[in-house]
Amino acid sequence: MSNPKKNIKNIRIDYSKSSIDFNNIIDSPFEFFKIWLDLALEIDPENANAFVLSTVSSKNNPSSRVVLLRGILEKSFVFYTNYLSSKAKDLDENKNVSLNFFWPYLEKQVRIKGVVSKLSDLESDTYFKSRPISSQLGAHSSEQSSSLPLNFSFDKIVNSLEEKYKNKDVGRPVFWGGYMIEISYFEFWQGRPSRLHDRLCYTLVDGVWTLERLSP
Ligand SMILES: Cc1cc2nc3c(=O)[nH]c(=O)nc-3n(C[C@H](O)[C@H](O)[C@H](O)COP(=O)(O)O)c2cc1C
Repeated sequence: MSNPKKNIKNIRIDYSKSSIDFNNIIDSPFEFFKIWLDLALEIDPENANAFVLSTVSSKNNPSSRVVLLRGILEKSFVFYTNYLSSKAKDLDENKNVSLNFFWPYLEKQVRIKGVVSKLSDLESDTYFKSRPISSQLGAHSSEQSSSLPLNFSFDKIVNSLEEKYKNKDVGRPVFWGGYMIEISYFEFWQGRPSRLHDRLCYTLVDGVWTLERLSP
Protein backbone atom coordinates (compact mmCIF):
# COMPACT_ATOMS: atom_id res chain seq x y z
CA MET A 1 0.00 0.00 0.00
CA SER A 2 1.29 3.46 -0.79
CA ASN A 3 2.40 5.71 2.06
CA PRO A 4 -0.44 8.23 2.60
CA LYS A 5 2.16 10.82 3.67
CA LYS A 6 3.59 10.67 0.16
CA ASN A 7 0.32 11.93 -1.25
CA ILE A 8 0.94 15.67 -1.47
CA LYS A 9 -2.72 16.33 -0.69
CA ASN A 10 -2.15 14.82 2.79
CA ILE A 11 0.98 16.71 3.80
CA ARG A 12 0.03 19.23 6.49
CA ILE A 13 2.19 21.19 8.89
CA ASP A 14 0.53 23.34 11.49
CA TYR A 15 3.31 25.91 11.87
CA SER A 16 3.89 26.84 15.51
CA LYS A 17 7.61 27.25 16.15
CA SER A 18 7.74 31.02 16.50
CA SER A 19 5.98 34.32 15.93
CA ILE A 20 6.81 37.91 15.00
CA ASP A 21 6.55 40.27 17.97
CA PHE A 22 4.66 43.17 16.38
CA ASN A 23 5.03 45.17 19.62
CA ASN A 24 8.83 45.13 19.44
CA ILE A 25 9.74 45.66 15.84
CA ILE A 26 13.38 46.08 14.81
CA ASP A 27 13.78 49.34 12.85
CA SER A 28 16.29 48.03 10.31
CA PRO A 29 15.19 45.13 8.08
CA PHE A 30 18.88 44.31 7.58
CA GLU A 31 19.26 43.78 11.33
CA PHE A 32 16.07 41.71 11.38
CA PHE A 33 17.36 39.64 8.43
CA LYS A 34 20.70 39.01 10.16
CA ILE A 35 18.94 37.71 13.29
CA TRP A 36 16.91 35.25 11.20
CA LEU A 37 19.94 34.28 9.07
CA ASP A 38 21.93 33.53 12.25
CA LEU A 39 19.12 31.24 13.45
CA ALA A 40 19.12 29.52 10.05
CA LEU A 41 22.92 29.16 10.12
CA GLU A 42 22.70 27.49 13.51
CA ILE A 43 20.06 24.99 12.49
CA ASP A 44 21.10 24.24 8.87
CA PRO A 45 24.53 25.79 8.23
CA GLU A 46 25.00 24.25 4.79
CA ASN A 47 21.84 25.62 3.23
CA ALA A 48 21.06 28.77 5.18
CA ASN A 49 22.61 31.16 2.62
CA ALA A 50 20.85 29.64 -0.39
CA PHE A 51 18.07 31.68 -1.93
CA VAL A 52 15.91 31.66 -5.02
CA LEU A 53 16.80 34.51 -7.37
CA SER A 54 14.18 35.50 -9.92
CA THR A 55 14.94 37.59 -12.96
CA VAL A 56 12.77 38.76 -15.85
CA SER A 57 14.03 38.90 -19.44
CA SER A 58 13.49 41.77 -21.85
CA LYS A 59 10.65 39.67 -23.32
CA ASN A 60 8.99 39.50 -19.89
CA ASN A 61 9.96 35.87 -19.34
CA PRO A 62 10.50 35.21 -15.63
CA SER A 63 13.14 32.73 -14.51
CA SER A 64 14.16 31.45 -11.06
CA ARG A 65 17.16 29.56 -9.76
CA VAL A 66 19.01 29.02 -6.49
CA VAL A 67 22.21 30.98 -5.79
CA LEU A 68 24.24 31.57 -2.63
CA LEU A 69 24.33 34.74 -0.55
CA ARG A 70 28.02 35.60 -0.16
CA GLY A 71 27.89 38.94 1.62
CA ILE A 72 25.68 41.54 3.24
CA LEU A 73 26.68 45.17 2.70
CA GLU A 74 25.09 48.26 4.23
CA LYS A 75 22.18 48.35 1.77
CA SER A 76 22.66 45.29 -0.37
CA PHE A 77 23.20 41.56 -0.68
CA VAL A 78 25.99 39.99 -2.76
CA PHE A 79 26.10 36.86 -4.93
CA TYR A 80 28.53 35.57 -7.59
CA THR A 81 27.93 34.07 -10.99
CA ASN A 82 28.91 33.93 -14.64
CA TYR A 83 28.38 37.29 -16.37
CA LEU A 84 27.43 35.53 -19.64
CA SER A 85 24.89 33.16 -18.09
CA SER A 86 21.18 33.23 -18.77
CA LYS A 87 20.52 35.13 -15.54
CA ALA A 88 23.24 37.68 -16.41
CA LYS A 89 21.62 38.24 -19.81
CA ASP A 90 18.32 38.91 -18.07
CA LEU A 91 20.09 41.29 -15.68
CA ASP A 92 21.79 43.19 -18.54
CA GLU A 93 18.34 44.15 -19.75
CA ASN A 94 16.30 44.26 -16.57
CA LYS A 95 17.97 45.03 -13.26
CA ASN A 96 14.90 44.21 -11.13
CA VAL A 97 15.13 41.00 -9.14
CA SER A 98 13.21 39.19 -6.48
CA LEU A 99 14.76 36.91 -3.86
CA ASN A 100 13.26 34.24 -1.69
CA PHE A 101 14.85 32.66 1.36
CA PHE A 102 12.95 29.67 2.80
CA TRP A 103 14.18 28.17 6.06
CA PRO A 104 11.83 25.21 6.57
CA TYR A 105 13.27 24.12 9.95
CA LEU A 106 12.40 27.57 11.28
CA GLU A 107 9.09 27.87 9.39
CA LYS A 108 10.37 31.21 8.11
CA GLN A 109 10.40 32.83 4.68
CA VAL A 110 11.89 36.17 3.59
CA ARG A 111 10.81 37.78 0.32
CA ILE A 112 12.96 40.59 -1.06
CA LYS A 113 12.93 42.94 -4.05
CA GLY A 114 15.82 44.98 -5.35
CA VAL A 115 17.92 46.21 -8.22
CA VAL A 116 21.28 44.71 -9.21
CA SER A 117 24.60 46.21 -10.22
CA LYS A 118 27.96 44.54 -10.79
CA LEU A 119 30.56 44.54 -8.02
CA SER A 120 33.89 46.21 -8.75
CA ASP A 121 36.61 44.06 -10.37
CA LEU A 122 38.62 44.38 -7.18
CA GLU A 123 35.79 43.02 -5.01
CA SER A 124 35.20 40.12 -7.41
CA ASP A 125 38.95 39.40 -7.55
CA THR A 126 39.18 39.30 -3.77
CA TYR A 127 36.29 36.86 -3.46
CA PHE A 128 37.52 34.72 -6.39
CA LYS A 129 40.93 34.33 -4.71
CA SER A 130 39.24 33.07 -1.54
CA ARG A 131 37.56 30.17 -3.38
CA PRO A 132 39.04 26.66 -3.49
CA ILE A 133 41.23 26.06 -6.57
CA SER A 134 38.76 23.45 -7.87
CA SER A 135 35.97 26.07 -7.89
CA GLN A 136 38.27 28.60 -9.56
CA LEU A 137 39.05 26.11 -12.33
CA GLY A 138 35.37 25.21 -12.54
CA ALA A 139 34.52 28.86 -13.22
CA HIS A 140 37.08 28.92 -16.05
CA SER A 141 35.77 25.66 -17.50
CA SER A 142 32.08 26.43 -17.77
CA GLU A 143 30.24 28.65 -20.23
CA GLN A 144 27.33 28.67 -17.83
CA SER A 145 23.88 28.21 -19.43
CA SER A 146 25.24 27.33 -22.90
CA SER A 147 24.25 24.01 -24.54
CA LEU A 148 26.49 20.97 -24.30
CA PRO A 149 26.44 17.67 -26.20
CA LEU A 150 24.88 14.96 -24.02
CA ASN A 151 28.15 13.00 -23.96
CA PHE A 152 30.27 16.04 -23.05
CA SER A 153 32.92 15.58 -20.34
CA PHE A 154 34.76 18.36 -18.51
CA ASP A 155 37.76 16.14 -17.71
CA LYS A 156 39.94 17.29 -20.62
CA ILE A 157 39.28 20.99 -20.02
CA VAL A 158 39.91 20.69 -16.28
CA ASN A 159 43.09 18.64 -16.81
CA SER A 160 44.51 21.16 -19.24
CA LEU A 161 43.62 24.06 -16.93
CA GLU A 162 45.27 22.24 -14.01
CA GLU A 163 48.39 21.94 -16.15
CA LYS A 164 48.22 25.59 -17.27
CA TYR A 165 47.87 26.95 -13.73
CA LYS A 166 50.24 24.53 -12.00
CA ASN A 167 52.01 26.56 -9.25
CA LYS A 168 50.41 29.76 -10.61
CA ASP A 169 47.58 31.98 -9.45
CA VAL A 170 44.32 31.14 -11.21
CA GLY A 171 43.16 34.63 -12.17
CA ARG A 172 39.47 35.46 -12.17
CA PRO A 173 37.95 35.02 -15.63
CA VAL A 174 36.55 38.32 -16.92
CA PHE A 175 33.19 36.62 -17.47
CA TRP A 176 32.78 35.73 -13.79
CA GLY A 177 32.06 38.04 -10.86
CA GLY A 178 29.69 39.41 -8.32
CA TYR A 179 26.45 41.34 -8.27
CA MET A 180 25.07 43.40 -5.45
CA ILE A 181 21.35 43.70 -4.98
CA GLU A 182 20.27 47.03 -3.57
CA ILE A 183 17.16 46.21 -1.58
CA SER A 184 13.98 48.28 -1.45
CA TYR A 185 11.56 45.72 0.00
CA PHE A 186 11.64 42.94 2.60
CA GLU A 187 8.80 40.72 3.77
CA PHE A 188 9.39 38.57 6.84
CA TRP A 189 7.00 35.61 7.03
CA GLN A 190 6.62 33.38 10.05
CA GLY A 191 4.42 30.29 9.82
CA ARG A 192 1.62 30.24 12.43
CA PRO A 193 -1.09 27.77 13.44
CA SER A 194 -4.25 27.44 11.31
CA ARG A 195 -2.57 29.19 8.37
CA LEU A 196 -2.82 32.53 10.24
CA HIS A 197 0.78 33.40 9.52
CA ASP A 198 2.66 36.54 10.61
CA ARG A 199 3.83 38.84 7.80
CA LEU A 200 5.85 42.02 8.31
CA CYS A 201 6.96 44.18 5.38
CA TYR A 202 9.53 46.94 5.14
CA THR A 203 9.37 49.24 2.08
CA LEU A 204 11.98 51.89 1.41
CA VAL A 205 10.19 55.20 0.74
CA ASP A 206 12.36 58.31 0.23
CA GLY A 207 15.21 56.67 2.12
CA VAL A 208 13.06 55.64 5.09
CA TRP A 209 11.87 52.10 5.86
CA THR A 210 8.09 52.08 6.27
CA LEU A 211 6.36 49.20 7.96
CA GLU A 212 3.24 47.29 7.12
CA ARG A 213 1.68 44.14 8.48
CA LEU A 214 -0.07 41.96 5.92
CA SER A 215 -2.91 39.54 6.28
CA PRO A 216 -1.77 35.94 5.90
C1 LIG B 1 22.31 25.15 -3.53
C2 LIG B 1 22.67 25.81 -4.86
C3 LIG B 1 23.54 26.87 -4.86
C4 LIG B 1 23.89 27.49 -6.07
N1 LIG B 1 24.70 28.60 -6.04
C5 LIG B 1 24.97 29.25 -7.19
C6 LIG B 1 25.70 30.48 -7.15
O1 LIG B 1 26.05 31.02 -6.10
N2 LIG B 1 25.97 31.07 -8.35
C7 LIG B 1 25.57 30.54 -9.54
O2 LIG B 1 25.86 31.11 -10.58
N3 LIG B 1 24.84 29.40 -9.60
C8 LIG B 1 24.53 28.75 -8.45
N4 LIG B 1 23.76 27.60 -8.48
C9 LIG B 1 23.32 27.09 -9.80
C10 LIG B 1 22.09 27.89 -10.27
O3 LIG B 1 20.95 27.44 -9.57
C11 LIG B 1 21.86 27.81 -11.78
O4 LIG B 1 21.76 26.45 -12.18
C12 LIG B 1 22.99 28.45 -12.59
O5 LIG B 1 23.40 29.67 -11.99
C13 LIG B 1 22.54 28.72 -14.02
O6 LIG B 1 21.41 29.56 -14.00
P1 LIG B 1 20.97 30.41 -15.30
O7 LIG B 1 21.11 29.49 -16.47
O8 LIG B 1 19.57 30.83 -15.03
O9 LIG B 1 21.92 31.60 -15.40
C14 LIG B 1 23.38 26.99 -7.29
C15 LIG B 1 22.47 25.92 -7.28
C16 LIG B 1 22.11 25.35 -6.08
C17 LIG B 1 21.09 24.24 -6.07
